[in-house]
Amino acid sequence: MHEPHHRPRKAVRPGRRQRHAVYAGTGLLLLSGLLWLLAHYALPLPEDAARHPLEAWAMRVHGAATLFGMAVLGGLWGPHVLRAWAGARHRLSGGSLLGLWFGLALSGYGLYYVADEGFRATISGLHVEAGSGLPVTLAIHILTAVSSRRRGA
Ligand code: HEM
Ligand code: HEM
Repeated sequence: MHEPHHRPRKAVRPGRRQRHAVYAGTGLLLLSGLLWLLAHYALPLPEDAARHPLEAWAMRVHGAATLFGMAVLGGLWGPHVLRAWAGARHRLSGGSLLGLWFGLALSGYGLYYVADEGFRATISGLHVEAGSGLPVTLAIHILTAVSSRRRGA
């Protein structure tokens, strides 16, 4: 193991701007996803429209938020994910969060390219369930990190 001993351990914590980028990315993904669900299932259709126009707008924002979120995750990879994993701290909540990101990226990719309607509906359901779990899992990860830091652990 090449863990550099001279580095302060607090360096595992993402910096202020990185933390804000994580919140912004997750918030945008969640809001645009919920907006799509609202437009798709709840809002009345305007005259002679097959889909609510808000759906397309929600997915434009969602797609942009996905690109942003993946870039943020990339930035966290070495300094946060790998280093925290090597230090064996918060592996459960961090690993769950990471697993959700992978699952959402994979199912999101499927939503783009899977043509079969039944299979696509299954993927959509899984994606929405994982998506609903994302903010909760992030909150758990942050709360455990903050509380163990307060305890000085
Ligand atoms: C296997 C994966 C992961 C592990 C083992 C892990 C571990 C940790 C640890 C140990 C801390 C506390 C750092 C400290 O205060 O010294 C932390 C904080 C944090 N992690 Fe992770 N993490 C993982 C994945 C992620 C991912 C994927 C994200 C975001 C997409 C993330 C976002 C954050 C944030 C924002 C904090 C700061 C919480 C705060 O102090 O306000 N982590 N993580
Ligand atoms: C890492 C996080 C996420 C990634 C990478 C991601 C990615 C994607 C992608 C690529 C699409 C397809 C876009 C399109 O068809 O135009 C999509 C659709 C969607 N996403 Fe996400 N997403 C994420 C998080 C979320 C969250 C948090 C929610 C909130 C519930 C959500 C809800 C949805 C919904 C409702 C759709 C449309 C489903 C459908 O067309 O049947 N996503 N997502």
